[in-house]
Amino acid sequence: MPKISVKGSSMPESPIRKLVPFAEAAIKKGRKIYQLNIGQPDIKTPDVALDAVRNHTIEVLSYSHSAGFEGYRNKLAGYYQKKNIPVTGEEIIITTGGSEALLFAMGSIADAGDEIIIPEPFYANYNGFAVASGVKIVPVESKIETDFALPPISEFEKLISPKTKAILICNPGNPTGYLYTEEEIKQLADLALKHDIFIVADEVYREFAYDGIQHFSIMSLPQLKDHAIMIDSVSKRYSMCGARIGCLVSKNKEVIATAMKFAQARLSPPTFEQIASEAALETPQSYFDDVIEEYTSRRNLLIEGLKQIEGVKVAVPKGAFYCIAELPIDNADKFAKWLLEDFQMDNETVMVAPAAGFYSTPNTGMNQVRIAYVLKKENLEKAINILKVALKEYNK
Ligand SMILES: Cc1ncc(COP(=O)(O)O)c(C=O)c1O
Repeated sequence: MPKISVKGSSMPESPIRKLVPFAEAAIKKGRKIYQLNIGQPDIKTPDVALDAVRNHTIEVLSYSHSAGFEGYRNKLAGYYQKKNIPVTGEEIIITTGGSEALLFAMGSIADAGDEIIIPEPFYANYNGFAVASGVKIVPVESKIETDFALPPISEFEKLISPKTKAILICNPGNPTGYLYTEEEIKQLADLALKHDIFIVADEVYREFAYDGIQHFSIMSLPQLKDHAIMIDSVSKRYSMCGARIGCLVSKNKEVIATAMKFAQARLSPPTFEQIASEAALETPQSYFDDVIEEYTSRRNLLIEGLKQIEGVKVAVPKGAFYCIAELPIDNADKFAKWLLEDFQMDNETVMVAPAAGFYSTPNTGMNQVRIAYVLKKENLEKAINILKVALKEYNK
């Protein structure tokens, strides 16, 4: 039998999806599952985006430019300019989701064995992208006690080695919901300039900032023109996860020229989805206002509900639509499986994502779960109640 690669065997399983077979078995038993484990929003995709595809009369579904439609890139630059992110269409490469942009970024700045420092817990697929790129992730721990604020800069500094190529942040954070302050971004900028390393900022949740706080982008700092790379996506912004459109943005010409070679190798991003994404830029502000209002009230309901459960500690998210909760259990993996296999309340249960997979330090976050508040309030309320009863029974 021919052998698969070491790289292939090192690819981590997604902590978000690995419980799916247990969920499928529960559904077969006729159980209803409230899915708090996955960041698939239930918000409607804007009509302007869907209509653009419905009304299109393409006759040849041809390749597009490797960097994406020029018209789309220029319009997208206009969106960024309104967000105080002064970029042009030439500084944008359209990718197949933010996922591909992350791969292009890693491929463009790091060689095998190079290191990227990331505050943990972090979006679990960074592990997979790092393995695929041969990059070593060096974690710096952020803590639930501070709502996962930026760790002290001295902690980053301790980890910087000749192999360090970048610091990667997710702002607002998945899975933490933390929104970095302007002050924190400036501290990171000083550090990047001092050590001449890149800052890669994954800003796919930019629009999801609550309590009137303004998101502050890494791209808003002119001193970082050669050091900043932004990752973005339409997946969450317009509830268009299936469109698979994202982008890589940088004012560093060499980064763009290099990422462009990766883009050329895969030819082009998908066509209809670019049409939808370009049209989505016409989405009225009222759509976002309604979405933010909805997520804010879901967040408040969830956090209040979790705080009422004995032994639960939770970080209050200021952005995105996730929170990390520490539960009165010793192993969230076991607990999450038990919820699907052995527990039910009126034939219903909940599915959560064990948080250990969002850390790269072994045995960290073992009693934590990530909860996504992507359910309607009445379902979220039911799910919190199920979790409360389940914890009591689990700890009997
Ligand atoms: C933080 C973060 N970055 C990137 C992605 C990937 O997004 P896309 O669907 O655009 O590939 C996700 C998806 O959940 C995410 O949460």
